[in-house]
Order: sequence, then C-alpha cells, then structure tokens
Amino acid sequence: MDEKIRELGERRRKVLEGGGPKRIAAQHDKGKMTARERIESLLDAGSFIEIDAFVEHRAVDLGMDEVEAPGEGVVIGHGTIDGRTIFIFAQDFTVIGGSLGEMHALKICKAMDMAVKVGAPVIGINDSGGARIQEGVDALSGYGDIFFRNTRASGVVPQISVIMGPCAGGAVYSPALTDFTVMVDKTSNMFITGPQVIKAVTGEDVSAEALGGATVHSTTSGCASLMFADEASTIAGVKKLLSYLPQNNIEDPRIVDSGDDPMRSDPALKDVIPDAPNKPYDCRDVIRSIFDSGDFFEIQGLYAQNIVTCFARLGGRSVGVIANQPKILAGVLDINASDKAARFIRFCDAFNIPLVTLADTAGYLPGVGQEHGGVIRHGAKLLYAYSEATVPKMTVIIRKDYGGAYIAMCSRHLGADQVFAWPSAEIAVMGPDGAANIIFKREIEESSDPASTRKDKIAEYKRNFANPYKAALRGYVDDVIDPAVTRPRLIRALTMLLGKRESLPPRKHGNMPV
Ligand code: HXC
Repeated sequence: MDEKIRELGERRRKVLEGGGPKRIAAQHDKGKMTARERIESLLDAGSFIEIDAFVEHRAVDLGMDEVEAPGEGVVIGHGTIDGRTIFIFAQDFTVIGGSLGEMHALKICKAMDMAVKVGAPVIGINDSGGARIQEGVDALSGYGDIFFRNTRASGVVPQISVIMGPCAGGAVYSPALTDFTVMVDKTSNMFITGPQVIKAVTGEDVSAEALGGATVHSTTSGCASLMFADEASTIAGVKKLLSYLPQNNIEDPRIVDSGDDPMRSDPALKDVIPDAPNKPYDCRDVIRSIFDSGDFFEIQGLYAQNIVTCFARLGGRSVGVIANQPKILAGVLDINASDKAARFIRFCDAFNIPLVTLADTAGYLPGVGQEHGGVIRHGAKLLYAYSEATVPKMTVIIRKDYGGAYIAMCSRHLGADQVFAWPSAEIAVMGPDGAANIIFKREIEESSDPASTRKDKIAEYKRNFANPYKAALRGYVDDVIDPAVTRPRLIRALTMLLGKRESLPPRKHGNMPV
C-alpha cells in the first residue's frame, strides 16, 4: 500500500506542476497567475477540492500521441467563497496553451453539470489558445457541448466568465452565453477572428488589445460586464459580485446587514437635483444616499453610461438598480442603454433580485442612426424585460419622465408594484417646450408677440402637466414623497413585497425581441 500511495503522490505532483517551471515563469512574466494560483486566491483558503486531475487526452494525430498534457490543460473542482459552494474551471495556459480538446471540454462539462445538479454558481477562468488544432472536430464538439450547457444552465445557476488571457475564435461564445464576463486590463482579449485574419480578409491593421482588449469590450462592444486593472483586483471584484447573488434560481441572495439604519432619511437628497429641469446631476449621488451604506456595484459601468445598472442593498437585501444618468446624454434611452438595462433586469428577475428603478429621462434618443440601428426592436427589449419580470418592482420618478420612456422605466403599466414620485417629477407625453409648440402652434403663430405667447403657453403647460399629481390622480403613482424619505419608503415597500408571488402563464418561452 505504501508504494501505491507513493505512486499516487508522484502522479499528483506531476499534475500540479502543469506545464513546468519554464512555462509557469513565462506566465508570471506576463503579469498572470497560473490556473491553480487563481483558484487558490479566489476560493476560501483550503476549500478547493479538485476533480478529474488525472484525466488525459487520447488524441494521436499530428504527434499528439507523444504530448503529455498534465490535467488536460484545465483545472476543475469545487470549493467555497465566503462559505458558499461554487464550481470552478480554470484553463491552464502552461499546458498546450490552455487549448481545448475533447477531454478538456469533458472536464468543463462535468463541472457545469455538477453545479446545476447541486444548484451552485459556476465560475470559468478562460486563458486559452482556443480549439486544440490537432484534435479537429473533437475540439469543436467540445465547444458545442459547453455552449449547450451554458444555455441550459442559464437562469438556473449564476455563471461568471473571467477572461485572464486570450479567448479567441468560437471560444468567446461561452463567456457571451454566461451572465457576466469579467476582463483584466491589458492581459486579456476576446475576438472571433484575430488581427492576422482581419488583416488578410479586410486589410485592417489592428493590435489584439485594440481589437478585443478589456477596454474596448467594456466601453464599445458591451461584451464585458466588468474590467479590473490586474488579476488580484479582478478576483476581489468577482467575490464582491457573488456576494449579491443567490446560489441558484430557487434561493434568495444572502442578507448582509451593513448596520445602516433602515429608517435613515437624508434631507440633503433634495439638493442633489438642480432646480432647472435640464441641468445634469450624477444619479450615483442619489444611489449613494438611498442604498445601504452608500455602497453599490456597477455592471457595465463604462458602457452606455446614459443608464446605470448596479447591485446594491436595501435593509441588507440585494436589489438591482436601474437609473437614468442625467449626466450623460441627458439620461436618454437609446439602443445600447436599452440592451444593457434589459439584460440586467432579466438577470435579476431570473435570480430573485428585486428591482429598483430611478427614472429621470426625456425619452428615447431621436436620430436617423438610432432608427436605422433598430431602436424600435432594441428599445422594445426594455419593455419586455420589465413586463415579464415577476420579482418585486419599485420605481421612483425623480424628475423628467416623458413619453415612451415614462412607460419603459418600470411604470405601473409594466407591472411596477410600488411607484413613488418626488415633487420634482414631470410625467407627461413630452417636455413643456415641445408640447407647447405643437398644441398651441396656431395661438403662437397668430399672436402679435409670438415669443411672449410661447413663453406663456409653456408656463401654462408646465403648471398643468409638468408635475407628478396628474399621474397620482389616476393612481399610476402610489405616493408623492419627500426625497429625504426615499430610503425608508423603499425599505418599507420591499418588506411589504417580500410575499409577492406572481407567475407567468405556462408556455414554452416568450419571444423577446433580440
Ligand atoms: C494547439 C496551441 C493552440 C491551439 C496555442 N497552442 N494555441 N496548441 N491548439 N489552438 C500552443 C502553442 O503551440 C504553444 O505550444 C503553446 O500553446 C503556447 O502558445 P504560444 O503561441 O507560444 O503563446 P503566445 O505567444 O502567448 O500566443 C498565444 C496565442 C497563440 C495568441 C493564443 O498561441 C495563438 O494565436 N494561438 C492560436 C489561436 C487560434 O487561432 N485558435 C483557434 C481559434 S478557432 P508550445 O509547445 O510551443 O509551448 C477556435 C474555434 C472554436 O477556437 C470554434 C468553436 C465553435
């Protein structure tokens, strides 16, 4: 037996060495940790249990029969983060460039299947040269099997992709199918076709970083949910993200008491909003005031910045916050903002995270570019996502809430459970200037002093419509509240709504515009 145990130790030592000291040093030289180091720093100390350490490839073509690949280029297993079970796979770039072959894919699939079976989140750390070229269709089938599982696990357990190196070709579709894609600045990239192929096909010269680095995916393509400066801060970010999420679609997120008084009011809140309706302010100042300890965690913070989507807590409970950002493009809704918010809302709804909407928007962005880009179909996603969401939905109308945007920003008509308005709210078909120009066109034109008549008519419209009381009169707004008490009112509403049980009619699935 002693001999057998010694052999086991020897075999395990070989696996733990990965691609060997030279390749590990090369990994470190790039500012990257190894797969095992990443797992160790992400999980609670000593909690990681590896499975399938002894799996090997069975490829023979193109010299593969001579190639040893310890661990098959991917480390999988389970462990805990803040005491909660998670499943993890981390591609090992030191072993054949972390490339994905048949058995590598089977290991990943095993981790995903186990995670779904026990209802625990899956974290995938990607650092790979993509499909293992020598394995041909066996590698491609492996990707297909992963995509299939990503899709089937969607809305069942949270799935987080962490990109810590190259992620090229079809490999990018696994992160794209998961709930969150987290990238490391400068050392990660994602693209379907790399710089060389692009040069050959279109003649464009572009670096890997400019094509698919963390910055471009965080600001321009919207493919990254989060980016961090280095691997250590990325790991801290993933832990923080997980803290807001439940284990699966049946559980609720953990309650985290920050000690912030649920009844705390904030008289300073009224001064955040400028008196002039067109003056910008930062909606993050409002968010900081309302939610527990001023703490919140933004998703896609650098993309479509005219809308803010973040996780925060109210009385210790996780909520998803969607807020128009008046500081950027006057908080208008456009194609990208609609996509961003709709995806966030659907995640929250799938995982029992109540929604808080802070509305201040003049409407959908006008323009040929927007119309031709499909703002009709993209904007519809927001309506769809709010309408299908069955979690508690609370809305605070802060200032402007005009036209289609009034409806879209979680109005009563899309199923909001509680709608509050600040006295500064303006709920109408359109803003006073535009409205007066249309409905009083003849009076203004025929007047001896059109400028002054126009001014009077705008003032008349403002008096009549640019307030929350017309909507409150109909019960579309449940209450008009002093901004100072927004936090306690939302917490009271959330507590009241905890018993909410709403289900949609049985059907295969809806057909959301995509
Ligand atoms: C087999 C691979 C590999 C791959 C890298 N390696 N990618 N082996 N299949 N796809 C091996 C290298 O031969 C090398 O082996 C080791 O991994 C490290 O790679 P290097 O090139 O030395 O590293 P680096 O210079 O850092 O460059 C990394 C890289 C580059 C940018 C990722 O390796 C690269 O361009 N790889 C190919 C990327 C690609 O086109 N993949 C296919 C995408 S198509 P040695 O023994 O020398 O250390 C795809 C289809 C999926 O994935 C479709 C699913 C639907």
